[in-house]
Formats: sequence, C-alpha cells, structure tokens
Amino acid sequence: MRIGILGSGLMGGKLGILFARSGHDVVFSYSRSRRKLARLARDAGGSSRAGTPREAAEDADVLLLAVHWSRVDDVLGQAGDVSGRIIVTCSLPMNAEDTELVVAHTSSGAEVLSRKVPDAAVVSAFGTVPSEVLFAVFAARRRKRRPSMVYCGDDAAAKPIAARLIRDVGFDPVDTGPLRVARYIEPFTLLVARLAYDGDGGPALAYRFEHLEERT
Ligand SMILES: NC(=O)c1ccc[n+]([C@@H]2O[C@H](COP(=O)([O-])OP(=O)(O)OC[C@H]3O[C@@H](n4cnc5c(N)ncnc54)[C@H](OP(=O)(O)O)[C@@H]3O)[C@@H](O)[C@H]2O)c1
Repeated sequence: MRIGILGSGLMGGKLGILFARSGHDVVFSYSRSRRKLARLARDAGGSSRAGTPREAAEDADVLLLAVHWSRVDDVLGQAGDVSGRIIVTCSLPMNAEDTELVVAHTSSGAEVLSRKVPDAAVVSAFGTVPSEVLFAVFAARRRKRRPSMVYCGDDAAAKPIAARLIRDVGFDPVDTGPLRVARYIEPFTLLVARLAYDGDGGPALAYRFEHLEERT
C-alpha cells in the first residue's frame, strides 16, 4: 500500500519505518526539519521518501495522522483534499501541556477528526501504546502471543486495511466497534501512559486482552 505519514515524530516516524519494513511505500511528511524527513526515508529504505503533506496525501491508500492535537487543522490544511482516503489516527485530543484530554466522554478526538474530514474514512488505531514499544513489538512479530492493539471505526472497508497494518507492525488487532468507541479508547491511553512513564517497568509497554473460558 501507499502510506502517507502526516506528522513524522515519535509515532509517525517509527510507524512509517515499520510500515516500510513491512513492504509498504511510505511518504514521510510534516516536520520542521526536511533533513529529518529525508533521514527517516533513508532509515525506512525501499521506495520511501520525504515529501510535503500534500505529496503524502496524493494517491495514498492510507494516511497516518500522528500530530499533536493542536496541529491537526494545520496539517490537514497542508494535506489538501483527503476525500476518499483512509485516515488512521493515533493522535490524542490532549491540551497544550499534554496533561488532559480536551475532548472526552460525549465525544472523542477521532470523532471530531471525522467531522473535519467527512469524505474520508477515519480509523482510530496505534494511539494506545507508547512509541518506545513499537520496534520491540515488530522484532517479536513472529511470536504466537502478540500484544493486542484496539482499533475502531465506522467504515467497513477501511477497518480490515487498518487491521492489516496493525498486524504488519506485530500486534494482534482487536476490533472494538464503531468510531464512537474512541471515547473509551482515548482515556485508556492515559492509563497506559501512566504505567509506561510513571511505573517501574519502563516505557516499552504493550497490553494484551485474553478471553478465558467462563467458569462457575
Ligand atoms: N509519543 C507517544 O508515545 C504517543 C503514544 C500514543 C499517542 N500519541 C499521540 O500521537 C500524536 C503524535 O505524537 P508524537 O509523540 O509522535 O509527537 P511528536 O513526536 O511531537 O511528532 C509530531 C510531529 O509533528 C511535527 N510538527 C509539530 N509542529 C509542527 C509545525 N509547526 N510544522 C511542521 N511540523 C510540525 C513535528 O515536527 P518535528 O519533527 O520538527 O518535531 C513532528 O514530526 C499525538 O497526538 C500524541 O498524543 C503519542
């Protein structure tokens, strides 16, 4: 697939590299440093390249939105027409200090985003783990017990494509339902971040849901 990265920071840079290493054609965009985008494209290898958000959006099968909440309008404005595109978002609706969600309970960042781009198909994925764990999950992708990755969205055609990308990175995709489930997913991310950054085990943290046989 052709994947445009909108926001090539901790999440976008790493996920873009892992998508490229899984065989996808990746365009890295949206950084204040063009050299950084070029370095990411080099690290990613294959036919990856650096570009503008508009170039990343052109002919993309999937766009990964990985910017701070305060930059969403700016990067979408630079990307231009995204109608018909699948937008996978890991962006959380955090305040400027990154201390709390500015959209919650009655809506979610993913739903607000979806209303900004009504002709695109938004899927919420990847935002529930810290960037520090991504390469380790990819390295362990051949193991049978993979960490979970929850995702949600309203577009039936977009969701299997997001699930494939989740699998490519090394997670076990868990379809949690329509986009409004992001109202539960986004606060869950703050719990994961608390354990990752304030816990004892370090930030390379993932999670796994397991179904057990019910016993009485
Ligand atoms: N980091 C995590 O572990 C994590 C985990 C889960 C969810 N998230 C969410 O994922 C999203 C991305 O987080 P992140 O940690 O990857 O952020 P980040 O490292 O700050 O990356 C954001 C990207 O946006 C670019 N950018 C910012 N302002 C810009 C401007 N004025 N012009 C052009 N480019 C600009 C940055 O450019 P530069 O390259 O110049 O810095 C960077 O490439 C956020 O919504 C966050 O809440 C993050």
